[in-house]
This record gives sequence, C-alpha cells and structure tokens, in this order.
Amino acid sequence: MAIINSKEQVEDAKLDKTLRPQSFSEYVGQEKIKKNLDIFIKAAKKRKEPIEHVLLYGPPGLGKTTLAHIIAKEMGVNIRVTSGPAIERVGDLGSILTNLQDGDVLFIDEIHRLNKVIEEVFYPAMEDYKLDIIIGKGPSARTLQLDLPKFTLIGATTRLGSISSPLRNRFGAIHRLDFYNENEVKDIIDRSSNILEIDVDDSGAKKIASCSRQTPRVANRILKRVRDFAQMRNHNRINKDVAEEALKMLDVDKVGLEPTDRQILETIINKFDGGPVGIQTIAAATSEEVQTIEDVYEPYLIQLGFLARTPRGRVVTRNGFKHLGHSIPSEKQQELM
Ligand SMILES: Nc1ncnc2c1ncn2[C@@H]1O[C@H](COP(=O)(O)OP(=O)(O)OP(=O)(O)O)[C@@H](O)[C@H]1O
Ligand SMILES: [Mg+2]
Repeated sequence: MAIINSKEQVEDAKLDKTLRPQSFSEYVGQEKIKKNLDIFIKAAKKRKEPIEHVLLYGPPGLGKTTLAHIIAKEMGVNIRVTSGPAIERVGDLGSILTNLQDGDVLFIDEIHRLNKVIEEVFYPAMEDYKLDIIIGKGPSARTLQLDLPKFTLIGATTRLGSISSPLRNRFGAIHRLDFYNENEVKDIIDRSSNILEIDVDDSGAKKIASCSRQTPRVANRILKRVRDFAQMRNHNRINKDVAEEALKMLDVDKVGLEPTDRQILETIINKFDGGPVGIQTIAAATSEEVQTIEDVYEPYLIQLGFLARTPRGRVVTRNGFKHLGHSIPSEKQQELM
C-alpha cells in the first residue's frame, strides 16, 4: 500500500494514538465545528442532558475519530468504540447498548457499513432510548422492549452519500470535516515533532506541510518517514533540503501527489482524452478499487482542482493537465474548466 495513503494502516494505530489531541485546544483547525460543538456541549451540560447524536464525515485521516474522543472527554463521559461492520447481530447491538451508562458516548466508525436490519433496530434506540428485541422463533416469538441508558451516538463516515436518510435524519448535528490549510498542517507538524522529539526547523516543517495532502494523518506519517531518512543520512536536523530529498525518495511530488494519484490522472488523459470517464472504467484501467479511488485519492485531487466530477464521469481539469506537464488538446481548450 502506498506510503501516504491517508487511510488508516496498521502501523498508524500507535502513531495515531501517541499524537492524538486530547482537547479542543490541542485540536488544530476545524474552527467552525469546534465552536459549534463547544456550544452544543456546554448547553447540554447545563441542562444535565446527553448531547444529541453527532455525525462526522469527511475523507480519511482528517480527525473524525479524534474529535469523537474529544467530545466524550469534554462531556466527561465514557466512550465505547465500535464500527459498522463489527455489529453483526441485533444481539451485539443489544449488549453494547445495555452496557452503556447514562450520558455515555457510543462511537460507531464506518457507520455507512451498518447492516440494514441493525440500522432499523437502531432508530427507536436513537429516538426514544428503547430497544425491541425478538425472543424465540416462529409462533411463540415475542417482542421484549428494553429501556436503554440515555447515550449519545457519534457516527463517523467517509461517505455521507451511503447513509440512508432515515438514519441521517436522526442525528442532531452533522459536521463535514474539511481539508486543512498549510498553516494548520504546519502547526500539527510542529506539535507532533515536539511530542516525538524530532528536530525539524521551520523550513523543513513548511516543506512537509506543503506535501501532506492537507491531511493530519499524512503529515504525521511523512514526518516520521522524513525523520527515518534523516537518521539514515546522519542529518540531525530536518530542514527544507533534507525534507525535499526524503520526499523525492518517497515519490511524493510538490503538491503531495503520489504515484497512484498521477497514474489516475495519466490514465484519464492518455486513455480517455482527459474524460469524461466513469469511475468503474478508471478503476479497471488502474487496477485500483473503486472505493479506494473514491475515498482516498479522488477527494484530494478534487480539492486541488485537478479532477472534476461531472454527470458523465470524471474529467481532468486544465490544472490537472498542466501539473502533469501535458498540453491541453486543442479541441478541449474551450470546454475544459
Ligand atoms: N485537528 C487535528 N489536530 C491535530 N492532529 C490531528 C487533527 N486531526 C487529526 N489529527 C491527527 O491525525 C491522526 C488521524 O486522525 P483520525 O484518526 O481522527 O482521523 P479519521 O478522520 O478518524 O480517519 P479515518 O477516516 O481513517 O478513520 C490522529 O491520530 C491525530 O494525530
Ligand atoms: Mg477514524
């Protein structure tokens, strides 16, 4: 798997944990969401009620899980963590929910992968803190209704579009996490290098920030790789030059694209005249999975303005052509954005 793939990888678990901010004040950026949640939390505390259910969405590595933990901490409650695919049976859900205490946070990652049956059982649980369980089979089956503790559900997803509207409507707040600007990413790198005791100067941190896909997880991962590189070369301090050399070795370009990003763009340009072309076709031509392209690569390419989604498929934009050093075909001059 690619070095800077923003999706969580096994090796990240430890790094993510060490570097995960513990409070709103340590959590860089996303100012609007933080302010909103802060008010939300303070008001709920005043009323001595749990906060309403919160749905967080956005590309991988932008800080959804981190934010869920911070919300629980600020509320002063426990957090129970699970994921959509991990809840297989109604019984699993029952045991999770009945083991919560009033006010606790239940965090469900990848909530778009919750199965439909479970989802429907969830509705009354979210609305009225009730759980209907069917006991027995056939004619002797009966329903038992359990009262649940007043919990707060925090759901996280990379794909809001895959969440059914009845589920979506049951959240009191829905927040989209945005990509971070370069200054914010640099702040995150400065914070992380302090914690990890990595000696990076300002120019080095800036360089890494500019190649981190505007994504905290990628920034942290690159920082660590650059540190390894620096050690190998006996540089004790990471400056712009060292960072540049390391990034080159990692095959990460000036704006943070890695080989797969470039391959996706090249494929659309070379095989499909720059598009429009369907995502399935792009996946087949690049041997990547549709979901990986949609979740990991595409959001950043769109954010950079190198790729656009149109009703007829994906199109490489003028800037996308330029970045890869391709001239724009004359018949496209007019239509391209
Ligand atoms: N706002 C932030 N400030 C500082 N560090 C951050 C911030 N957001 C994320 N991070 C860092 O990035 C890492 C990844 O964040 P997190 O695991 O919360 O992302 P995620 O959105 O849940 O990703 P995924 O979709 O893969 O689950 C965290 O461990 C943390 O170190
Ligand atoms: Mg997460």
